[in-house]
Amino acid sequence: RPKRMSPAAITALKGNRPIVSLTAYTAPMARLLDPHCDLLLVGDSLGMVLYGLESTVGVTMEIMIAHGQAVMRGASQACVVVDMPFGSYQESKEQAFRNAARLLKETGCDAVKLEGGAEMAETIAFLTSRGVPVCGHVGLMPQQVNATGYRSQGHTEKEAEKIHRDALAIDEAGAFAIVIEGTVEPLAREISSKLSAPTIGIGASPACDGQVLVSDDMLGLFNEFKPRFVKHFAELAPLISEAAQAYAAEVKARTFPGPEYTFQPRARKD
Ligand code: KIV
Ligand code: NA
Repeated sequence: RPKRMSPAAITALKGNRPIVSLTAYTAPMARLLDPHCDLLLVGDSLGMVLYGLESTVGVTMEIMIAHGQAVMRGASQACVVVDMPFGSYQESKEQAFRNAARLLKETGCDAVKLEGGAEMAETIAFLTSRGVPVCGHVGLMPQQVNATGYRSQGHTEKEAEKIHRDALAIDEAGAFAIVIEGTVEPLAREISSKLSAPTIGIGASPACDGQVLVSDDMLGLFNEFKPRFVKHFAELAPLISEAAQAYAAEVKARTFPGPEYTFQPRARKD
């Protein structure tokens, strides 16, 4: 069984070839995606996608640990990164280390991801210098929804300069890769060319060093809303609806379960 990619191996892909990443929340999905991905992200987007929450703010450490463990059972070669949930790292670098160590120890994952720019640089340096590889996340930051809402980033000069500074700060702090979300192309291109860490874009143009999407989005499985940057590589939702409809019809008509799905007593030799 091949060994999983390390965070350092992800960093080394920069300038070499694009990094392929998708989210995974469960063991069977991780097993399906793993052969095609460099990095599997156990994203806190699971709060919305799996649990029907309004935002990612309500996601807990316990939820991230349970799904991190599930994904680790299905992943054999991709680097597995688990999101730190809102409130588990913003208070202090010590709090961040305590919770990051829990994620590493209790799931066996390879790295953690946290949202934030210059204000998180000290925390990222603290973690990386103590054995916790950290993936950064700048631009649109869903955990900031209560402060900023969801909107694409980098439209004004002032906003673009701040995001640029933020990305540089966490790069210097030692992030092994940096997710850029919902950010205009020229800024994503500029940041990608300046940083030593690879950038992984989601709604941040092809200029990034890699791409990530929420699997349920790109599979057409989660259709509550579709951000502009989501491409459907499949349409699974109608397949599931049709299967459920067909099942319901067969149960009502008593055509399921037929004889091939039914146990009969074994013939006894008396
Ligand atoms: O939670 C998530 O799925 C993410 C990715 C979209 C980058 O943070
Ligand atoms: Na996330």
